[in-house]
Amino acid sequence: KAPPSRKGSMTELSQDLLEQAKELERQLTVPASKLKEITNHFVSELEKGLSVEGGSIPMNPTWVMSFPDGHETGTFLALDMGGTNLRVCEITLTDQKSEFDIIQSKYRMPEELKTGVSEELWDYIADCLLQFVETHHPNLPKGEKLPLGFTFSYPATQNYIDEGILQRWTKGFDIAGVEGKNVVPLLKASLAAKNVPIRLTALINDTTGTLIASAYTDPKMRIGCIFGTGCNAAYMENCGSIPKLAHMNLPPDALMAINCEWGAFDNEHIVLPRTPYDIIIDRDSPRPGQQAFEKMIAGLYLGEIFRLILEDMHDNKPIKMFKGQDISALRKAYSLDSSFLSAIEEDPFENLQETYDLFVSKLNIAPSRAELEFVRRLAELIGTRAARLSACGISAICKKKGYDTCHVGADGSVFNKYPHFKARGAQALREILDWPEKKDPTEEDPIEVLAAEDGSGVGAALIAALTIKRVHQGNL
Ligand code: GLC
Repeated sequence: KAPPSRKGSMTELSQDLLEQAKELERQLTVPASKLKEITNHFVSELEKGLSVEGGSIPMNPTWVMSFPDGHETGTFLALDMGGTNLRVCEITLTDQKSEFDIIQSKYRMPEELKTGVSEELWDYIADCLLQFVETHHPNLPKGEKLPLGFTFSYPATQNYIDEGILQRWTKGFDIAGVEGKNVVPLLKASLAAKNVPIRLTALINDTTGTLIASAYTDPKMRIGCIFGTGCNAAYMENCGSIPKLAHMNLPPDALMAINCEWGAFDNEHIVLPRTPYDIIIDRDSPRPGQQAFEKMIAGLYLGEIFRLILEDMHDNKPIKMFKGQDISALRKAYSLDSSFLSAIEEDPFENLQETYDLFVSKLNIAPSRAELEFVRRLAELIGTRAARLSACGISAICKKKGYDTCHVGADGSVFNKYPHFKARGAQALREILDWPEKKDPTEEDPIEVLAAEDGSGVGAALIAALTIKRVHQGNL
């Protein structure tokens, strides 16, 4: 479906508001020429990240060295420590090719833990795992341990698959004493202290899990992406193209999944068109100077960009948005998440009733019709920019690998729930890669971004299975 056309919808905007909307449109719109420039720079940064000197994108080797063939079997636990929830799953890969059964429990990730103390985090996770095992395996024979794939979705250095030295926290996490440490022994210590019968088999990034889980059911899958609280991708590289692994003497045609950690793209601010609001987001974040690309795209930040702009429109612009109203609720940082923008974009333009109700209930602000239209336009601009920029990362990997056609598996709240994100991203891919217009709208694009299988659950289980198989075969 084509993204909605904007023509003629600014019906009630006064001249001032219209001018202000145009100014924001200028700041937040990324034309095709800029998308291409970003993509080209992205390709060179992917290369740099694989070099011995390294670059700003970490390009972390993950020691996931094959695609599944669909015949993997066994029962595995998966622990998904994403940005928002904690999830424990048990996945059974059945004898039926590419089929699996899953049971899962979700736990809240308490906000205080994200900026709290390291031991409390691992203890909390161990408690969740214990509860899960006690519920689903009450009669586990003494001494037996269940294999676990741990989806730890932060940049981590891995010298082997069950290691993860945290490079830095992302997605607003800020727990002292973990950066620079291998998180596996930290979790293992809590598991041991609570006698949780689990054997940690592999540490996995959600993007790698997404790549592997998607390839399990669709052999055309080449890239796994997450557009959720954070934003990142993984793909399979040939070991011969990874100079920083040359000392390992791996066969040049052996495969290695690379977790790009592309959220760090353009941390040097060379090419991304940042607005003053992006600069504030970065300045006030726990890790200024990090994750420049992610901060313009990921769900954690979209609502905050929107909030900062509205606050600025009220405080500093002649239009004085929400004039005479108490905007104290709007002043609270990170009080609006991307679901707030999703709801605005989904609201029928004719009356924007839902948007009005949301502003009243969440922010105690009663916008005029003109302000509602402005707010709607703003949500569209922010959502469109995110979708278009994300297409640069996908195009860059495809260009680097020479993929003219393939499938890309994507997951995450922004990809799955944000209105028009997919269509806007597909349109940007078309512009970057110069595809001709489709004659038949049902025709597939050469590169299709599709909803992925559950990478952090099924992908983690598959990687645990592939690891056990590789160890048994004596390969690495
Ligand atoms: C952040 C993390 C990365 C993860 C992504 C999506 O970018 O650093 O590891 O894959 O969020 O969850």
